[in-house]
Amino acid sequence: MTRSRSLVERLRAAGCVFAEEEADLLVGAARDDGHLAELLARRVAGEPLEHVVGWAEFCGLRLEVGAGAFVPRRRTEFLVREAVDAARPGAVVLDLCCGVGALGAAVASLVPGGVELHAADIDPVALAYARRNVAAYGGAVWEGDLYAALPARLRGRVDLLVVNAPYVPTGEIALMPSEARDHEPAVSLDGGADGLAVHRRVAAGALPWLAPGGRLFVETSARQSPVTASALTSAGLAVRVATSEELYATVAIGTAPER
Ligand SMILES: C[S@@+](CC[C@H](N)C(=O)[O-])C[C@H]1O[C@@H](n2cnc3c(N)ncnc32)[C@H](O)[C@@H]1O
Repeated sequence: MTRSRSLVERLRAAGCVFAEEEADLLVGAARDDGHLAELLARRVAGEPLEHVVGWAEFCGLRLEVGAGAFVPRRRTEFLVREAVDAARPGAVVLDLCCGVGALGAAVASLVPGGVELHAADIDPVALAYARRNVAAYGGAVWEGDLYAALPARLRGRVDLLVVNAPYVPTGEIALMPSEARDHEPAVSLDGGADGLAVHRRVAAGALPWLAPGGRLFVETSARQSPVTASALTSAGLAVRVATSEELYATVAIGTAPER
C-alpha cells in the first residue's frame, strides 16, 4: 500500500496539519486496505494519531500506546534528561504514575550499564501497555494508588523517582484539545482544584522510599512550579526547579538528605 492523494486529502480536510506524514504512518500501520480504511476513519473522527497507529515516539523509543491511555508528551523528555544526568549504573529507578511506562523505559534505555526499573500506576489500562514497554529493560510493574502499589522491599532504595502525574486543574480540562479531553482518561489529566493534589501526595510520601541522597523529579508547569516546589520542601527535600525553553518544560527536583 502506498500513500494516495485521497488519503492525504481526507486527513487534511479533517484538520490534520501534517497530513502527508500522518498518511505515511497510517499506511505503515495498516495490515491491508480494509484496515487502512478503518484506521483512517478513526483518525478523521478525532482519535489521537498515536492511539490509531498503536505507538508513540519518546526519547527515540517506539512505545506501545492505544485507546484509553495517556500519550507521552515530547516535553517530558526534559525530565528524562535531568534524571539520566543524575543516574549511576545500576540505579534503582521508580516511575510513579507511569502511564504506558515512557519515563522509566527511556531512563533505562539511556543509563549506561542499565538500571533496576520499577513502574507503578493506578490504571490497569495504562499498565497493560507499560508491562510491554518496560519488559525490554527487565522492569517490574505494580498496580495501585501511588506508594500503596509498591513492595516493601523498595523502601529506602529508590535513587531516582520520576513522576509525571496529572497536574491539570479540574476547571481547565474543558479547555484542553479534544484529543486529550475526549480520548485520554480523566485520571491521567485531572489534578484537582489547583491541579496539584497528586503532587502534594507524591511529595508527602516520597522520603521513606528514597535512598539517602535519592532524587524526586516531578514535571509541573512554570505557573504551578512554586507550589510543586514548596510541597517537595515541606516533605524534607532540598529543591531546585529546572526549565527548558526549547521543550516548554518545567521540572521540580527534590534531593533527600544523605542521612
Ligand atoms: C499525565 S499521565 C502521565 C503518564 C506517564 N507518566 C507519562 O508521562 O506518559 C498521569 C498518570 O498518573 C496516573 N495516576 C493518577 N492518579 C494516580 C494515583 N493516585 N496513583 C497512581 N497513578 C495515578 C494515571 O493513571 C496516569 O497514567
